[in-house]
Amino acid sequence: MAETSLADAAAQVPMTDTTPLVEKKLVKFHIMSAALWFSIALLAGLFYSMQLLQQWPLPKIEVLSPGRIRMIHTNLIAFGFLTNSFLAMLYWTVPRLTGQRVASKTLGWIIWGAWNAIILATYIGLHMGEAQAVEWGETPVWVDPFVVVGAILVWIQLYTPIVRSREKSMYVSLWYFSAGFVWLGLTYIMGNFFPQYLVAGNAAGPLLGLYIHDLVGLWVTPMGWGMMYFFVPIILRKPIWSHALSLVGFWGLAFFYPLQGVHHFLGSPVPMFAQYSAVISTIAVEIVVVSVIINFFMTWRGSEGALQRSMPIRWFWLGAFCYAVTCLQCAFQVTLTFQQVIHFTDWVVAHAHLVMFGVFSFWTFGMIEHLWPKLTGNEWWSPSLRRWFFWLTAFGLGIMFVSLTAGGLVEGFMALNLTPRETILQSMRPFWLTRTLSGLSIIAGWSCLMVNMVATARAKRAVSHVDTEYSPFETVEDEEVSIGAV
Ligand code: HEM
Repeated sequence: MAETSLADAAAQVPMTDTTPLVEKKLVKFHIMSAALWFSIALLAGLFYSMQLLQQWPLPKIEVLSPGRIRMIHTNLIAFGFLTNSFLAMLYWTVPRLTGQRVASKTLGWIIWGAWNAIILATYIGLHMGEAQAVEWGETPVWVDPFVVVGAILVWIQLYTPIVRSREKSMYVSLWYFSAGFVWLGLTYIMGNFFPQYLVAGNAAGPLLGLYIHDLVGLWVTPMGWGMMYFFVPIILRKPIWSHALSLVGFWGLAFFYPLQGVHHFLGSPVPMFAQYSAVISTIAVEIVVVSVIINFFMTWRGSEGALQRSMPIRWFWLGAFCYAVTCLQCAFQVTLTFQQVIHFTDWVVAHAHLVMFGVFSFWTFGMIEHLWPKLTGNEWWSPSLRRWFFWLTAFGLGIMFVSLTAGGLVEGFMALNLTPRETILQSMRPFWLTRTLSGLSIIAGWSCLMVNMVATARAKRAVSHVDTEYSPFETVEDEEVSIGAV
């Protein structure tokens, strides 16, 4: 195996320059901000679930009204938690994959400050009732231009090392990242500016469907896949099973994903040709996603013991498992027949939690579990808190998913039988109560991680292992080469 990239990467850093390749403090601050926003988002989710049980804990306070809290829940998850986590991940991975530093440390701090100011403005704006009428784009209209500027700064910061790189080939994670940066900007502009200023009424519907789905598919997904393809080979210390398959995934995602947004509006007044095309492209994306799942499990095969030894691998494994279940679900739910039952029911909410939480957040947890000791220089403070975090979260999501999926089917069939809405709502109470209890389990798990992260950062137990010698691998002309230094 040629370790050429390590040498190349080292050669590209001038001997006199002692600036580290990776700005660890930036990674750490993005992770800490992500944790803060996630904590608020979880509480918002819990509170909103209580509203559906008619137990709203903060009655008659306008700025804390339930509708606003729901938007805070979803927006803080997407922009506060996941995007901050992805920025942390990019600051860690891109310099290693390219052997080059990001454009500027100062710019890094500007982006960190600006991005979190945007989230804060969104958070306050939503409390004040300033939401834009775009699902998942409720960011007040006066914040939107700043998001676009923020995305451009991220391009400058992270394309610089990619363009400067002298690596002979680009590892698949970089393919996903480079495309994801552009897609984020374009998706945001399409979803937040077009329906607001250019396209109105029914025509805006498909655009909004496209926006919701592309935010997941063209921002969260490429970052998540790139993250998995980077960390899993490093932790397992072996190359990914098939580099070719990972590239099939890339092109499949790029080609089919943007076409399927209308599947959020099946059975609506959107023209049928658009609905049918969304169904077909969704099936195509299914195949693409399966390729990623196969690649993960084939890479993991032969390293089964890692599930016992490595907490990060456990998170990645469970995330891949949730992905497989999601895919199976999609195969049913994208058909028009199935839609007649599940449309507008809690089945969809279960599906949303399985993907956003079970897959991408779990992979993010795997990354945090892996990186936090390296960032703090200390071993994890409490192994048992790590296990509690894992099991409480996995249990919580499992129960939430099962109860909402079952509830969704009950709701759907009752609606098909023209049961009065009041009766349906009464029947949903046990399912919603279970969801609230499962939320408590998730919050308890998250608290374990928070305590452990703070205690680890303050503890004085130096890490005994640093992964300096491993990096992701790929095959170039039948030869296995490592890509970038770790
Ligand atoms: C304490 C844990 C959580 C609770 C109790 C909770 C509860 C809720 C509730 C009540 C809704 C609104 C459902 C509706 O309008 O009928 C919701 C929506 C949503 N939540 Fe959570 N949530 C939790 C954690 C999370 C996490 C960790 C994520 C992602 C990482 C997440 C992602 C979402 C998404 C994407 C939606 C929108 C679903 C849709 O519109 O179909 N939630 N959540």
